[in-house]
Amino acid sequence: MKVLGIESSCDETAVAVYDAERGLLSHALHSQVKLHAEYGGVVPELASRDHVRYLLPLANQALVKAGVDKSELGGIAYTSGPGLVGALMVGASAGRALAFTLNIPAVAVHHMEGHLLAPMLEHPAPAFPFIALLVSGGHTLLAEVRGVGQYQILGESLDDAAGEAFDKTAKLLGLGYPGGPVLAKLAELGRSGTYQFPRPMIDRPGLEFSFSGLKTFTLTSFQAALQKGGDEQQIKADIALAFEEAVVDTLMIKCRRALQQTGINRLVVAGGVGANRRLRQVLKDMTARQGGEVFYPRIEFCTDNAAMIAYVGCLRLMAGETEPLAIHVRARWPMTQLATLNP
Ligand code: KG4
Ligand code: ZN
Repeated sequence: MKVLGIESSCDETAVAVYDAERGLLSHALHSQVKLHAEYGGVVPELASRDHVRYLLPLANQALVKAGVDKSELGGIAYTSGPGLVGALMVGASAGRALAFTLNIPAVAVHHMEGHLLAPMLEHPAPAFPFIALLVSGGHTLLAEVRGVGQYQILGESLDDAAGEAFDKTAKLLGLGYPGGPVLAKLAELGRSGTYQFPRPMIDRPGLEFSFSGLKTFTLTSFQAALQKGGDEQQIKADIALAFEEAVVDTLMIKCRRALQQTGINRLVVAGGVGANRRLRQVLKDMTARQGGEVFYPRIEFCTDNAAMIAYVGCLRLMAGETEPLAIHVRARWPMTQLATLNP
């Protein structure tokens, strides 16, 4: 079965073609970073309009790259949530209408399930069961994954998501949008040990996260350092590094705890913050010390993309899941509501 996947939940328009037999055939993406940059964050109405502009040309591009004609498609998969409702509506309407005109089934895909299963597009793919660390702009959670649709949430962020903490901290340091990659780049120039930042909630049992206090700590440290004087660029770089180290360390400690608690030795890391090089290295070292293994999607599939949507859509379509004709999107959608697929 060949599936066209559509992603439009936030600030990336993306389309991909996945073939159940041959794997990923193509993927195309348009990022709205430049569009939102001058506002310092995503403007929902602008995002929706830009999805309208780019979606169909990208769909054509993905089909041409895959060498697949529309008539060969066996189904359409689109992100139906969680995300910005207007943005989701663009992908869902286009996807549902396309499936209707081609007289093929459509399936609604959960964006976070897409992230979670994105490492399945790599070789070697992780085997079930595994522990998943999902770290994106909107979510931070640890889950025990026993199969497709079998997600037991072990811990979540009580406040800001990890990506959100990166974005907000970058903003208060006067860095650009999107904050995560910009802050990580600046941290490369930082001197380790100049500032000591706390590792939130590691002294308590459990697998919950909290990052908003760290953001406040960063702001006070930054203001104090500016008052003392010195090279502002170096201060920013040192603080960026101290912040990044604190987030990465905290995530590592909680992942280690989840592995030890469940006795599972495979860790999967997905979502935008999974593109962070320090996080990738620290988790690789930690799992190796534990005699386990860590799996990541390639960097470009850590952040939003349609390859993961086409892949999950293909699994669910092949299991007989379909979406009725009504176009339905969800701003919120708990992952625990997803149907389990029989292996
Ligand atoms: O998964 P994603 O593309 O979108 C959501 O579903 O939220 O994640 C975007 C988030 C943003 O907060 C961005 O700042 C963060 O991932 N991010 C990073 C890096 N690349 C993206 N955070 C830290 N380091 C990075 N290299
Ligand atoms: Zn995402």
